Amino acid sequence: MFVTFEGPEGSGKSSQIALLASFLQERFTVVTTREPGGTPIGDEIRACVHNVANTAMTPTAEMLLYSASRAQLVGELIRPSLAAGYIVLCDRYADSTLAYQGYGRGLNLEHLRQVTQIATGGLTPDLTFFLDIDVERGLARRTDGGLEMNRLDLETVQFHQRVREGYRQLIAEDPSRWEIIDADRPITAVQQDLQKTLLARLETVRS
Ligand code: TMP
Repeated sequence: MFVTFEGPEGSGKSSQIALLASFLQERFTVVTTREPGGTPIGDEIRACVHNVANTAMTPTAEMLLYSASRAQLVGELIRPSLAAGYIVLCDRYADSTLAYQGYGRGLNLEHLRQVTQIATGGLTPDLTFFLDIDVERGLARRTDGGLEMNRLDLETVQFHQRVREGYRQLIAEDPSRWEIIDADRPITAVQQDLQKTLLARLETVRS
């Protein structure tokens, strides 16, 4: 089963994924990964695309770098793991490109879908969690938490609001794939929702 996690900055995805993986590991084989990155080549791309000194990077170059990292991750890790019957938990995936480069940067959504199709070979998540949080609350959490800052963190609040709105559009287009989780709550409350929802989905797949 292929599960992805999306959300605005500071929604706490990475901590939640780590907790969820250790919960699931008692019963399943779980692979956790992230985008951009997740492979040695992807990590090199991540360093380049997130380098705050790369102010000259064009939106199209940015989008292709994220897509190149994704192509490598799908080929090297995600498809082989799914073929082995593992649960794959991925921190961001193609929806991030639609939300950030499409709705945030204003690139043509149809072109982004075509590039995504090439990068992933059409591999779509079985389930996507949207960890939702108010944009300003999320950005403050990142700054206060001393987390790694990337080029996109430096964008305006308006940019991040367009991204969040973009996610809402994506969810409206394909609601059965998504589960919306209110991420502005204590870590344990969010984690309980994730565990309950994922176990219910796994039951459905197995029955
Ligand atoms: P994160 O690892 O803290 O979630 O940061 C990843 C950043 O990269 C975040 O700002 C969103 C951005 N991003 C895109 O803009 N497009 C993409 O396709 C992906 C995967 C990430």
